[in-house]
This record gives sequence, C-alpha cells and structure tokens, in this order.
Amino acid sequence: GFSWKLDDHPKLPKGKTIGLIVLDGWGEADPDQYNCIHVAETPIMDSFKKTAPEKWRLIRAHGKAVGLPTEDDMGNSEVGHNALGAGRIYAQGAKLVDLALASGKIYDGEGFKYIQQSFDKGTLHLIGLLSDGGVHSRLDQLQLLLKGASERGAKRIRVHMLTDGRDVLDGSSVGFVETLENGLAKLREKGIDAQIASGGGRMYVTMDRYENDWEVVKRGWDAQVLGEAPHKFQNALEAVKKLRAEPKANDQYLPPFVIVDGSGKSVGPIVDGDAVVTINFRADRMVMLAKALEYQDFDKFDRVRVPKIHYAGMLQYDGELKLPSHYLVSPPEIERTSGEYLVHNGVRTFACSETVKFGHVTFFWNGNRSGYFNSEMEEYVEIPSDVGITFNVQPKMKAIEIAEKARDAILSGKFHQVRVNLPNGDMVGHTGDIEATIVACKAADQAVKMIIDAIEQVGGIFVVTADHGNAEDMVKRDKKGQPQLDKTGNIQILTSHTLQPVPIAIGGPGLAPGVRFRNDVPTGGLANVAATVINLHGFVAPSDYETTLIEVVDH
Ligand code: 3PG
Ligand code: CO
Repeated sequence: GFSWKLDDHPKLPKGKTIGLIVLDGWGEADPDQYNCIHVAETPIMDSFKKTAPEKWRLIRAHGKAVGLPTEDDMGNSEVGHNALGAGRIYAQGAKLVDLALASGKIYDGEGFKYIQQSFDKGTLHLIGLLSDGGVHSRLDQLQLLLKGASERGAKRIRVHMLTDGRDVLDGSSVGFVETLENGLAKLREKGIDAQIASGGGRMYVTMDRYENDWEVVKRGWDAQVLGEAPHKFQNALEAVKKLRAEPKANDQYLPPFVIVDGSGKSVGPIVDGDAVVTINFRADRMVMLAKALEYQDFDKFDRVRVPKIHYAGMLQYDGELKLPSHYLVSPPEIERTSGEYLVHNGVRTFACSETVKFGHVTFFWNGNRSGYFNSEMEEYVEIPSDVGITFNVQPKMKAIEIAEKARDAILSGKFHQVRVNLPNGDMVGHTGDIEATIVACKAADQAVKMIIDAIEQVGGIFVVTADHGNAEDMVKRDKKGQPQLDKTGNIQILTSHTLQPVPIAIGGPGLAPGVRFRNDVPTGGLANVAATVINLHGFVAPSDYETTLIEVVDH
C-alpha cells in the first residue's frame, strides 16, 4: 500500500541544511540593454554560472514543461511553483478550462447547473481579467462561455471586466474591449441582453492577492455589486480610451468605472437572484473576491449590500478552504507534494517571502493548499509588503528582510529546508521600468549572497533557481528577436513574463563530493527540481516524480 516513507538515498546523507531560493521572474537570455539581469551587478548569480555544467544549468519554465496548453504560453508563478513543489507536471487551469469548453463538459457539471438556476429570472454576471495573457484567464474562453451560457438559457448577461497590461502589452486593453463588444453585439442580435457593466485596472480593482490590500477588492465590489464608481460612461470602449488618456494612466491601474444608461443608472449591479461567475482560472488573485462573494461572516470591508446569488468560480480556488463551493471546472488535483513528503520524513521546513509572493512559496508550492501540513515541522513567515505603491518606486522591496529571516532560520539550526521567494525581478519587471528593474536584480543578488553566506557557515547546501523569466527581457521582440517599435517609433516595453528558461545552481560546503548535474536530462524543467531537492535531503524521490537532475559520481 501507499506509504509516506521515502527510501534512504544510497549515497547522500541526511540532515544537511538546504537553502532553497526561488528568484521570481529571473530567466536566462542573451545579454543586451533590455536584459536587466545582464545590465545589473549580480556577482553571485554570475559566479554560479561559471560552475556550469556540473553545478549550474538551465531548465524549462514555460509551456508544456509546466502544464500549459502550448509552447507559446509563457511561464508564470502559479504553474512554476506548482511544478517546483509537486515534482510532477499537471495539466493546469488554462488547459483544463480549454478541454471542458471544447468537450462541452463544462455545461454538464454541478457548477454550471447551479448558476443556471438563476438564468430564468436573474442576470448572469461574469467577472474577470479581459486578456489573452493566459496567466489568469483567456478572452477566447470568456467568449465561448458567453456563447454557451446564452445557448443554455442566460437571457441577461453583464460582464465586469478588468484590464490587464501586465501579462500582455500595455494598451492592448482597447483591442480586447473591441473584441468583447463584437461578441456581445452578436448576442444582442440573437435577442440576448448582453453588455459590459463595469471595469477597472487589475492592479487597482479586484485582483489583489494574499490579502495585501482589501481596498483593491472593495473598489471592485462597489463597481460590480453596488454599481458605484467615480467614473461613469455609457460605453466601455469610450471608458477605457478616456481613462487611458489621463496622465500616467496604464491598463494595470485604470480606475474603476461603471457603465450607465441614458438616465445615469448603472446597467449591471449584482442583485438578489443573480448568478455570478469569476472567470479567472488562476486562484491567487480571485480568492479575496471569492471570499467577499461567498462568506456570510466577512469583515474585511463594508459590503453595504450582500446579494443572494448563485456564485461559481471558473475553478475552485482553494481546495483546503473549499472556496468557492461551486465551480465550473475541477482544478488540477495536485497531491503528494514534496513538502508533504518531507514533513512525513522528518525534514523541518521554513518558508518565507513578502506578502505579494508569500502564497507562492507556501500555497502554490504545496499544490494550492493553504496552511501547514504539520505545524510542528513547519514555519512560514510572511513579511508585510509595502501597500499602495508600484514597486518601481521601491525596487529593493523586502529582499534584505527576507534574506535576514532566512539567514536567522538557517543559523538557528532548527530547519533542514529554508525556502524563500525573492520577488524583485518579477514585481519590478512587471512595472516595465527598466532602470528600476536593474536595481531590483541587484537587490535580489545581494539577498542571495546573504543566504548562501549563512549556508556556508552551517556547512549546508544551496539550491538557487527561478520560477519563470521576466527581468531578463524587457522589450517586445519581432520574430528575428529585434526590439519591436510601436506606431510612434518607440520600443514596446514588455511588462509580462517570457518564454525563457531559468537557471538552477547547486553548491555549498554540505554538497557531497561527486554531486553534479546529469547530462542526460537535457529537457529538464521546473518539475525536476523536487526530486533533486529530495535527494539532497538524503532520500530517494517518489517513483512517479519527474526525474532528478543530479547524479553522484565516484570521487
Ligand atoms: C501577476 O499576477 O502579478 C501576473 O499576472 C503574473 O505574475 P506571477 O505569475 O509572477 O505572480
Ligand atoms: Co510575475
């Protein structure tokens, strides 16, 4: 039968302290002026690279290697940390929703039947990110769902859209609204009362994560549920164009707006008897809204009015909290993650990041599961992120604070694994501010140094890797790899992640002699890291895990 007990590794000892560092948004790309990692002073990461191929290599972090539908899908933190922690490749939300829509099974499930009960008398509201980024949602999936729901009885539909500019180019929101409006016009031709009801930029409205700033969710609630916002327009395209024309405006941070009719009344507040679907498949930035929509007891902000609705998520966002209780597509069943194995085998774990990435090294790492497996074996520390700023203003973020916590945890001798996420390359990279991203990369490198210095002191091992690319390429490129210019002749800044591979480095005084990267796993990716780390803890990895990246040669 099944057992949590892992076999002893034939050659590697137990009990070493492993510093496991995930640099968020840190890929490998050719050096040029848009490669902020190359431009920044990063002596530590540079020194690791010199140990290739035995102690440094590249691994895949995008597309099918992390369970995404195609090789054109860039990596992201959700799928990246899932793969890192689970050691296997799961078909991820994007793919599962594609399959459910293509087969029509989405409409046979409990979740759809539940919302369908409101179609007769109520309105169907669809809330989510309007984008083809494929990280949190996809516009083509929204279009299919609109069509499918209308064919199955939805007569009145309202879309509450959030503009992106973070997983896609800034300014692309206009085109997405046009595409959506065309789709809604087609539905109206068929006699369905379908329109956009509200909107706002994803980073300012609704899509906060890890309870960093509930004000963000409240702004969305006011627009989506109460039908109230500081900006009122009769048409969403006009709304987005006008709000974007304001000084310093961008898609990520557009203020909330509602669409009103000729008499100034909002066209789509959410009221008793309505159905609501949050269309994002990715969890982190939907959990807070899901709580506001679903929980009876809720004190994070004054909801003013709590409509009695039939609410379903595109997926269930948190399996532990069973949130939300109704959903259209079952999430990937990520089980027996490395974290759970390790606590069963006596490995004490410490995990830390700042708020905006805290759930990445805990929740995503543990297979979209909140909380501890065993609170006696684990300690998770969250450093509060700065709230209400864009991180180009504070590119160092909390890197040093995270490194200090990790250092203290390592020196305490209480833990065998000290795991951190250093957010700088990613969070600052997403602002598109090249100067700030260079500062961010340098700060991350300094944090790595602090942690490996501590590892050095205790005779431990370090594993340094990343979850996906971002800071190594800040410009949109044409097919030949040349920077692409926009209509006005300026380069197009790339705020999103990339398709690049990421580095992995191993080392430290505790690394047994003869340990090196194998050369027979050339296609290795993030999912191969878990078995590698389990080996370094002195165990053989579970047989269904993706293979280890290391071997031990006689010395
Ligand atoms: C975000 O949610 O900030 C971006 O869409 C993706 O970034 P992450 O995958 O690095 O969190
Ligand atoms: Co990111």
